[in-house]
Amino acid sequence: MTTYNLLKFLHILAAFWFIAGLIGRDLMRSVARQTDDIRLFSGLSQAAGRFETLMVVPGSLLVVVIGVFVALRGGWPIFGFLEGADSNWLLLTNLLLLANILVVALIYLPRGKVFDQELQHAVAAGVMTDGLRARFNDPIVRWAHYGELASIFIIVALMVFKPF
Ligand code: HEM
Repeated sequence: MTTYNLLKFLHILAAFWFIAGLIGRDLMRSVARQTDDIRLFSGLSQAAGRFETLMVVPGSLLVVVIGVFVALRGGWPIFGFLEGADSNWLLLTNLLLLANILVVALIYLPRGKVFDQELQHAVAAGVMTDGLRARFNDPIVRWAHYGELASIFIIVALMVFKPF
């Protein structure tokens, strides 16, 4: 067993953790979308939040940090042509991850705060409110989630096929 293979193994385990968390979170959201019962909705939203904090956030950090070690150990060019290399699959990976970070900062965090306020109001009132439903079905957040999943799919393909 080489250090490189060990790092790659840990990198892939972190990727599993991250992607399983993404799928779990989105499944909770899709079930929540179908209910008008505010208690059930609130419970499912909390479960989605757990997937986010226990799996998505630490998994995404770990997969990137260990990925950098794998790249350094294996001599893969993290910045592609910017560092004079011929292959650019890692550079594109980094750009996709950067786009995901921007989505979190510009869409998820500010809109998530408003959603949490609406959820608290609805839970206090004991009923599903129009405001909460509207926040939950925010098309920008929904498309951001689709984009996130698509980018992870592309990244895994880049990792395996290394096409350019
Ligand atoms: C969402 C983020 C990421 C996911 C899901 C992911 C997933 C994977 C997977 C599944 C492999 C195994 C591919 C194979 O053995 O055929 C892999 C390999 C690799 N990853 Fe990542 N990765 C991610 C981010 C990164 C980042 C940010 C870097 C470095 C900056 C990186 C560097 C590497 C390297 C160098 C390999 C080894 C390639 C090889 O030996 O064939 N990864 N990654």
